[in-house]
Amino acid sequence: MTDDGRDLAETQRAHWQSTYTAHPGMYGEEPSAPAVHAAAVFHAAGAREVLELGAGHGRDALHFAHEGFTVQATDFSATGLEQLRTAARRKGVDGRVTTSVHDVRDPLPLPDASVDAVFAHMLLCMALSTPEIQALVGEIARVLRPGGTFVYTVRHTGDTHYGVGTSHGDDIFEHGGFAVHFFPRALVDTLAQGWILNEVHAFEEGDLPRRLWRVTQTLPQTPGA
Ligand SMILES: C[S@@+](CC[C@H](N)C(=O)[O-])C[C@H]1O[C@@H](n2cnc3c(N)ncnc32)[C@H](O)[C@@H]1O
Repeated sequence: MTDDGRDLAETQRAHWQSTYTAHPGMYGEEPSAPAVHAAAVFHAAGAREVLELGAGHGRDALHFAHEGFTVQATDFSATGLEQLRTAARRKGVDGRVTTSVHDVRDPLPLPDASVDAVFAHMLLCMALSTPEIQALVGEIARVLRPGGTFVYTVRHTGDTHYGVGTSHGDDIFEHGGFAVHFFPRALVDTLAQGWILNEVHAFEEGDLPRRLWRVTQTLPQTPGA
């Protein structure tokens, strides 16, 4: 990664910390639509443990816990995760939720083939370079059990904010202090290499609205099959 990229990522971490401090629970208490969908997919696949990346203050991690999954929630914002733990205690699901501060530019702190399902809503489209995203998806493949499911969402190049604000190259634009990597469709297909690509579903979220894809991909039961 370039020095500019490393600086951008550090700036973004500070920005998310101060945003969660200024706006506790900013995404609300209701789960996102992708998390509701993912819970059904994970149940159908017989999953019991979910790893959530970029969990923020936990609207979706709490939903997975409420649905009976054991949840490992990670984010690089300790402030967001603190809000998640407080909400989990309040809702009585803290026994099924663990949190850890983790930057997805680093290897996942989990053994090989140790989780059933991975969920990441608007995390892969953060201030990550294409090689960092590819390395992260490689890590997700490593920690998922054979046949495991990965559901992620990303803002894409059809989003209203694509091309708006400060360009950092690699389809990353910073607007209002938030840097977003807008995904071209080719990147989705690249990230599915070695996986079974089950679905790419277009949807919108929020007032902008954000335009996103919800991607579901599964690991083959037999590696390399
Ligand atoms: C758009 S928010 C979505 C939060 C949550 N998934 C939700 O939908 O409620 C993106 C989240 O990713 C986290 N994040 C951004 N870059 C990250 C990184 N490099 N490593 C870990 N977390 C990161 C931010 O702190 C933030 O909580």
